Amino acid sequence: METEKESLSMFSLKGKVALITGGRRGLGLAIATGFAKAGAHLAVVGRANDCKELAERISPTGARLLYLQADLEHREERQGLIPKVVEQYGKLDILVNCAGIQYRHAAIDFPLKEWDRLLSVMLTAVFELSQQAARVMINQKKGKIINIASLLSFQGGWTVVAYAAAKHGVLGLTRALANEWAHKGINVNAIAPGYFDTDMCAALKADPERERAIRERIPAGRWGKPEDLIGAAIFLASEAAEYINGQVLVVDGGWLSR
Ligand SMILES: NC(=O)c1ccc[n+]([C@@H]2O[C@H](COP(=O)([O-])OP(=O)(O)OC[C@H]3O[C@@H](n4cnc5c(N)ncnc54)[C@H](O)[C@@H]3O)[C@@H](O)[C@H]2O)c1
Repeated sequence: METEKESLSMFSLKGKVALITGGRRGLGLAIATGFAKAGAHLAVVGRANDCKELAERISPTGARLLYLQADLEHREERQGLIPKVVEQYGKLDILVNCAGIQYRHAAIDFPLKEWDRLLSVMLTAVFELSQQAARVMINQKKGKIINIASLLSFQGGWTVVAYAAAKHGVLGLTRALANEWAHKGINVNAIAPGYFDTDMCAALKADPERERAIRERIPAGRWGKPEDLIGAAIFLASEAAEYINGQVLVVDGGWLSR
């Protein structure tokens, strides 16, 4: 009979190398911390010049950490990232495309500069890093790509037209890449978080009426905590998800089912 330890080993990330964009804050920080606890070594992309909080959080796990400072808006800063991970660790097992920004304006006045920046960080960079990662993973005949989608991959939202367009795009990208790469051993999937308490939602949380309206619509009765995402991310990054391709796992306390 299979022991509990044996059956749980399919969820282990022991010895895996994971690159997480936006891994120094918010949801990416929680995912990176969870991956390290599950046994992975990390590479993290962020804009700021350090990633102290993550380093402190993972220090008891013994996970290695490579921090890559880059602004994902710019192609020239995206280009060398995957090669640096491979140079450091000799492989890349998992890519999590998590970095994101938000701009809120009525569509009629939406500044095109912000449209361009958001699409570059949240859609073009996701494709480019996935393409570069897949070139490594195809050689390895194995790899996992997880894109962070959103409820706005399914809904239009309000005054967030660039974000909704990018997140619908992320879902399309996830399915298209899964189709082309599944038979090469790469699982491309997405996670769609609901409303989570991070810096990105600070403006919504600071408005008592909006905060309450959102909370009351969530069947679970509360906003998500970044830690609520860890199980889904580990699952999709692990061998347990070997036959899952092009799916989006919604982690939203029930919002979309309502
Ligand atoms: N918080 C939510 O409720 C929620 C819901 C659905 C989806 N998401 C998605 O989850 C992801 C993470 O969001 P979060 O809530 O943790 O937000 P956050 O603002 O706390 O973190 C965003 C991260 O992205 C990084 N980032 C942003 N622009 C970058 C750039 N140009 N170059 C490099 N890094 C950049 C930031 O440095 C930060 O680490 C985003 O893709 C977001 O769209 C969040």
